Amino acid sequence: MTPVKVASPNLGTIDRVLKHDGRAPRYTSYPTAVQFSAEVGPGEYGDWLAGLSHDTAVSLYVHVPFCTRLCWYCGCNTRVVNRPEPVGEYVRYLLREVELVARKLDGRRSASALHLGGGTPNTLTVDELQAVFRALGRAFSFADDMEIAAELDPASLTRSWVEAAGALGLNRASLGVQTLDSKVQAAVNRTETFEQIEECVAALREIRVRSLNLDLMYGLPHQTTQSVLDTIDAVLKFRPERLALFGYAHVPWMKSHQKLIAEAALPGPAERLDQALTAGEKLVREGYVPIGLDHFALPDDELARAKANHRLRRNFQGYTTDSAKTLIGFGASAIGAMPEGYVQNHTQELPWRQAIDRGEAPIARGVAITDDDRFRAEIIERLMCDFAVDLEAVAGRHHSRSISELDEALSRLRPFLEDQFISIEGRRIEVLPSGRPLVRSISACFDAYLQPDALRHSRAV
Ligand SMILES: C[S@@+](CC[C@H](N)C(=O)[O-])C[C@H]1O[C@@H](n2cnc3c(N)ncnc32)[C@H](O)[C@@H]1O
Ligand code: SF4
Repeated sequence: MTPVKVASPNLGTIDRVLKHDGRAPRYTSYPTAVQFSAEVGPGEYGDWLAGLSHDTAVSLYVHVPFCTRLCWYCGCNTRVVNRPEPVGEYVRYLLREVELVARKLDGRRSASALHLGGGTPNTLTVDELQAVFRALGRAFSFADDMEIAAELDPASLTRSWVEAAGALGLNRASLGVQTLDSKVQAAVNRTETFEQIEECVAALREIRVRSLNLDLMYGLPHQTTQSVLDTIDAVLKFRPERLALFGYAHVPWMKSHQKLIAEAALPGPAERLDQALTAGEKLVREGYVPIGLDHFALPDDELARAKANHRLRRNFQGYTTDSAKTLIGFGASAIGAMPEGYVQNHTQELPWRQAIDRGEAPIARGVAITDDDRFRAEIIERLMCDFAVDLEAVAGRHHSRSISELDEALSRLRPFLEDQFISIEGRRIEVLPSGRPLVRSISACFDAYLQPDALRHSRAV
């Protein structure tokens, strides 16, 4: 691997960005999960499912909350299993959940996308994976060009698993890489070699996945800008269609295993920002198109094309081309999106199973969305996806709303305007390149629920 020297962004930019660094949500939904409550439960979800129009194509999400290792930085809903029984038991309930939802749907719907997330979906055995596909295939008709994606851990991925998934239609894959720096790997309890990743990529290329994503991270303990660049240099050999570059979200008050990470070894805010900006500049020089906050894609990948056509969307999996308005989630902690609102399954497996035993949709919480939520959600989604929004045009699509309701949001934006992180021309707001790392904080100005002490969220930059 050849280290590349890249000029760091100037310190003035870093200082100005940090002055504005609040703590803001990632806006994978609006309202965000913090607003979910028990006011929305299985009854409401049942009504929403029953009311889904028959010509609505739906997206499907299946959560697999198991891993074969515990990475100390992990913020996902997962646990380590070393025996097959808990996974087998979980899959049996998953199949029942699919049947239960199918009954409430009253008729087979067409599915345009299926995403297997986790945790690590490749902890399922091939038989279990096939059983999940069979159950979903009974409940939904899979569209011919359906996007079928899975998040995979190279440490436990086998060639036979990839081949079986390919036979089931897997056409997108996302491999976790994070870092190839052995000192950083040791500090987060996740070791993997370049050769392991190379083998996984080769297997996935053989089944002709049409888009391969690699997850990378910055802001991990002992990580430096140079070590992020070295990892990028190494993985560019695979020319993945997509790369995600996630800033480590340190929330030990929510994820207690993150306490195992030595806080003193974490890069400070200025170093984090330097890592993100320098890595992003490098990927752009290598021909990748920056997508929103933390993704990069080759120009002919669907994500880059969606960005160019202003069709990029944001959902619980991050940036997506999926335009379905309905997402049905299966598995503990899975989130669903319906035209009427959001729902989340019980996070813990026991109550999730007990609800299924009662013949109930295992919904723990959710939120019904109002016209005002829809209005603000579209503004926030456009800012997060396009770094620009035309308020007049959005208001034109939400007849019950008026731009005058945004006066408070516009006054919250003033500091960003004064520091030239955004420009406002008429009713069009544009996030300028120097303000892009702040897009979460800028979007938060339109969030009617956000309290000034929003410390439950991780650092926005
Ligand atoms: C479900 S995992 C990916 C698949 C597989 N489990 C693996 O780790 O290889 C989802 C991704 O979320 C990212 N991630 C996990 N915890 C994070 C955190 N605390 N902050 C930022 N990104 C995180 C990592 O990049 C990880 O690859
Ligand atoms: S990063 Fe992936 S493999 Fe590691 S604990 Fe989280 S979900 Fe599991």
